[in-house]
Amino acid sequence: MSLDIQHIRSQFPILNREVNGQSLVYLDNGATSQKPKVVLDTLDTYYEKYNANVHRGIHTLSQEATDLMEESRRKIQAFINAKHDHEIIFTRGTTEGINLVSNVLRNVLTAEDEIIITEIEHHSNIVPWQLLCERTGAKLKYIPLTKEGILDITKLDDLLTDKTKLVCVNQVSNALGVVNPIEIIIQKAHEKGAWVLIDAAQSAPHTPIDVQKMDCDFLVFSGHKMYGPTGIGVLYGKEDILNALPPFHGGGEMIKDVTMEKSTYACLPFKFEAGTPDIAGIIGLGAAVDFINSIGIQTIHDYEKELVDYTIQRLSEFEEVEIYAKDAEHSGAVSFNLKFDGVHSSDVGMILDKKGIAVRTGHHCAQPIMQHFNIPGTVRASFAVYNTKAEIDTFIDGLKTAIRMLG
Ligand SMILES: Cc1ncc(COP(=O)(O)O)c(C=O)c1O
Repeated sequence: MSLDIQHIRSQFPILNREVNGQSLVYLDNGATSQKPKVVLDTLDTYYEKYNANVHRGIHTLSQEATDLMEESRRKIQAFINAKHDHEIIFTRGTTEGINLVSNVLRNVLTAEDEIIITEIEHHSNIVPWQLLCERTGAKLKYIPLTKEGILDITKLDDLLTDKTKLVCVNQVSNALGVVNPIEIIIQKAHEKGAWVLIDAAQSAPHTPIDVQKMDCDFLVFSGHKMYGPTGIGVLYGKEDILNALPPFHGGGEMIKDVTMEKSTYACLPFKFEAGTPDIAGIIGLGAAVDFINSIGIQTIHDYEKELVDYTIQRLSEFEEVEIYAKDAEHSGAVSFNLKFDGVHSSDVGMILDKKGIAVRTGHHCAQPIMQHFNIPGTVRASFAVYNTKAEIDTFIDGLKTAIRMLG
C-alpha cells in the first residue's frame, strides 16, 4: 500500500521547522516521536472543555473527563488486543511500568528465586531488577550477546531453571534496532513456569502487538515514543497475575475502604493507579492510537522497514562506516560508528546537527551493549512514519561531510 507521506507530514507542525538554517530532518524518534495535530488539539480541547478530576465527581465535567479517560483505556486495550480493559494500567512510561512490577515483587520473590534479563536491555530494564535482587537476595542472570550483537538464544536453556520466576526482555533494542526472538523466550520461560515481561518501548510504535497471541505476562510501553504526549505510558498485565499482586503506590483512587487500622484495595485497574492520573496525557495517548490506526500499524511497519533497509543499504556504501548487528532483523533504528580512531559518535552528531539533522549519539542508556562492543557509544538514526527516503539521502550527504571532516 502506498502512503500519502506529504499528507502525513502535514499533520506534524514541527516538521516545518528549520534548524541551523536547514529544514529539520528528525531521525531521533527512538528517543521520542513528534506529535500530530490531532494529539496537540486533543490536549487543548481537554483543558478548554473537559478539565475536571476523574472517577470521583458527580458533576458533568467529571463524568465527561472520566468517560474520555476510560475510552482511551479501551483504545489501548484494542491496540494491543488485551482481553480486558482493566488489564491496562496507566503509568508515566516504560520506566515506571517496569519499576511498578519490580516493586510489587519485593514481597513475592525470595533469595531462592532467579530473574533472567539480557545484555541488550535499556537501563530501565536492568536497574529495577538489580534493585529487586539487592532487596530480596534473588539472583540476576543475563542472556548474553553474540559477537555480532544479537541475543545468543542458545544459552537460554542453561539459564532457565526451576528457580526462574521472571524473564524480562525488550522486543526491539533501542540501542541497535535489533528485533529480539521474544516468541521463543516466552515459550521456554513458560515451560519453566516463569512470567515474562516484554519491554515494548521500541516496538509499540512500529509493530502490531497482540498480547494474547504473544502470551506475555506483562508488557510496558511509553506514549511519547508513539506520537503521544510525554509522561504517560502503559503497563499491561494478565488479569489473574495483577489480581494476585499487592498494590504499588498507596493513596486515593486505589482503595476500597480505609480505616485508621487498615485499608482494602480497589479492583483492577484502579488498585495500581493511586492518585490523580495524567488525565490529559491519557486522552492524548488515545488520540495517538487513533492517529496510528488511521494509517494502520502494519502499514507503518512495512513502510518503516523500507526506510530501515534503505538506510542500511546507503550506510553500507561507505567502508568508513561500521553498522552494528548489520545482518540482524531491524525495526525502527540503525546504529553505526565511523571507524576513525579517536572519533566519538557525538562528533558525527554535532556535524549532522549543523545541517538540521537530528540523530542520537552516545550509549543510548544501554551501557552493557557498549561494553560488549568496547565502544563509548554509537550514532543512531531512528524512524517514524513521517520520515522519507529523501531525508535519508540528506542524512547520508551530511554523513559524507562528517567523513570528510573527521577522517
Ligand atoms: C527499550 C526501552 N526501554 C525503556 C525505555 C524507557 O522509556 P521511558 O524513558 O519513556 O520510560 C526506553 C527509552 O528510550 C527504551 O528505548
